[in-house]
Amino acid sequence: MPKAYISGVAMNVPDRVVTNDDLVTEFGIDTNDDWIVQRTGIKERRFAPAGVGASDLALPAAQRAIERAQLDPDDIDIILFGTLSPEYAFPGSGVLLQQKLGLRETPAMDLRNACSFFLYALGTGASMIEAGAVKNVLVVGSEIHSAGLDLTTRGRNVATIFGDGAGAVVLSATDEDRGVRRWKLGADGRYAEALAQRVWDTRARPFIPQDADGNGIVSPELMWAQMDGKKVYKHATTIMSRALRELVATERLTVDDLDLVLFHQANMRINQAVQAELGLPDEKVPHSISRYGNTTAATIPMLLAECVEAGRVQKGMKVAMVAFGSGFTWGAALVDW
Ligand code: COA
Repeated sequence: MPKAYISGVAMNVPDRVVTNDDLVTEFGIDTNDDWIVQRTGIKERRFAPAGVGASDLALPAAQRAIERAQLDPDDIDIILFGTLSPEYAFPGSGVLLQQKLGLRETPAMDLRNACSFFLYALGTGASMIEAGAVKNVLVVGSEIHSAGLDLTTRGRNVATIFGDGAGAVVLSATDEDRGVRRWKLGADGRYAEALAQRVWDTRARPFIPQDADGNGIVSPELMWAQMDGKKVYKHATTIMSRALRELVATERLTVDDLDLVLFHQANMRINQAVQAELGLPDEKVPHSISRYGNTTAATIPMLLAECVEAGRVQKGMKVAMVAFGSGFTWGAALVDW
């Protein structure tokens, strides 16, 4: 049975840096650098200009990941795309990226797993490769959060946390004994509304409220993402450490056997709590949250791209990844690099 290894990885972020102070001075949000840094570890994030969609931000990351895998776009057998800030409600952004890559009929599938996207996609893509159905899978997470944030004091508990960014990996078939070794996913739909954007509701008639003239009207609570921060925090800290422990246990390993652990970059405090609970030393747990904020579907491939570029990932290393987010959904994976 072939195995699936990561043959290329790359990231892309917009040029514009928005610091915590900029949120106060440019956007007029009643917040401050200390509050944000203490509670989230975020110092700055990137915002894309109007006119740039999730597939646009994804394109350079996807192209570079394909190049680094020493492939051409035509060699990609399927695109797995993840975003919670797509250009359209439907179709998904995967087909837009497919066109921008110059591909004609390559299948493109959007996975709607928000922060856990990368783990869900890694499991899906690796399974397709192991089944012999495909040889090269492009996995791309890309977010244009800046378009969907309530950048006012009313939205500060959510708006200060998220940023724009894209990360891509290519998964390729190999006969070598390396690559994705184990993955484990989870979900608990009881908490579907603890972190959600409910801009429409197909149970209602019409699905978006209308005024007397038939124009759609959306209240701020429906227009912007809503988050029960304390609930997210509590579940993220307990579930991420459990997911990682269970994952390594199925391989008869312990957390100490891991060389590098990539956490979803949602919140530095969450990650520090999980790291402490697992007893992981700082050198095994890289972070990029301070520079990019939470880029949801893109955090892990972005962090992986930085680690690979910095030479922190070497062949033979055991690299684990773990994420938690909206749904609630979560996932963990172990990769033999
Ligand atoms: N700046 C300043 N004050 C803010 C603020 C901001 N950006 N956001 C909220 N506040 C205020 C609140 O209005 C509240 O004021 P009040 O006491 O006068 O009502 C106070 O700070 C405390 O708010 P609360 O929401 O209880 O804060 P918290 O300590 O729970 O921290 C989070 C908020 C979001 C940082 C925290 O809940 C968290 O980290 N949750 C996890 C979020 C996450 O990681 N999400 C992504 C998952 S994928």
